[in-house]
Amino acid sequence: MVMSQLKNSVDSAKYLVVVGAGTQGQMIQNVIAQFDLGYEFWGYLDDKFQEIHKEEYYTAPIDAYKEFTDKENFYFMIAIGDPDNKKEVKELLDLPDEKYATIVHPFAYVDPSATLGVDVYISANATLMHKVKIGNHSFVLASATMEYETVIDEFVLVAANTTMSGKAHVKSRVFVGAGSVIMQERTVGENTIVGANATVVHDVPDNSIAIGTPARFKHKADDKSAVHKVIHKK
Ligand SMILES: CC(C)(COP(=O)(O)OP(=O)(O)OC[C@H]1O[C@@H](n2cnc3c(N)ncnc32)[C@H](O)[C@@H]1OP(=O)(O)O)[C@@H](O)C(=O)NCCC(=O)NCCS
Repeated sequence: MVMSQLKNSVDSAKYLVVVGAGTQGQMIQNVIAQFDLGYEFWGYLDDKFQEIHKEEYYTAPIDAYKEFTDKENFYFMIAIGDPDNKKEVKELLDLPDEKYATIVHPFAYVDPSATLGVDVYISANATLMHKVKIGNHSFVLASATMEYETVIDEFVLVAANTTMSGKAHVKSRVFVGAGSVIMQERTVGENTIVGANATVVHDVPDNSIAIGTPARFKHKADDKSAVHKVIHKK
């Protein structure tokens, strides 16, 4: 369907525009195609749109978001792994919260007392227990487990198989590496990377990299390349 047809349509479907056509974007496209989660995939906004162009769906550079912001039945998700880049895009879009979707994979368990922000994705087999809170623009990947009253702030990427014991607190713009464990009542400071398989037994300060068991941490300095390395490393 093209935009002109849509204008005349009485179709009440909700359409999802995904910003970012990388792995996370494709993951969202696939899950809404496989399961009836209330959204139909409309297409991608990605500055590399020429590389991903397909006949079956819409592709355009990120700037094209303006075409959709006033359309009632269009919703957005920002599927970008790098927390800083994701935050920049969020600021550019400047959308009200209600224009964002939140998607929970049907094989995830989310306790009824848990709360999810906007532009949140909860992947397959993730488990969110009593009163867990996930902040806006945060993604929780496959099989991550969050025990009671754990709080995840904004722009956090929780990688697969992480375990957060009760009342853990992960502040904003944090990458939590695969298989890591954050012990109960520990805080991970903002703009931090927790390495794969790390065991966080002490609070981790802001702007750090925490690695190992028990996790040791160091200041990440002003150089953000470490974050980019994590995100882009295959
Ligand atoms: C911690 C991390 C960010 C460091 O990345 P980096 O700066 O590129 O580090 P390097 O790969 O150059 O490794 C530097 C050293 O740290 C060690 N190291 C790296 N990651 C480690 C980890 N998670 N635990 C223990 N040691 C680690 C390396 O063995 C290397 O030691 P060496 O110099 O003695 O060989 C990264 O290794 C990591 O754990 N990323 C998380 C990956 C992940 O969970 N991906 C999920 C994607 S959804």
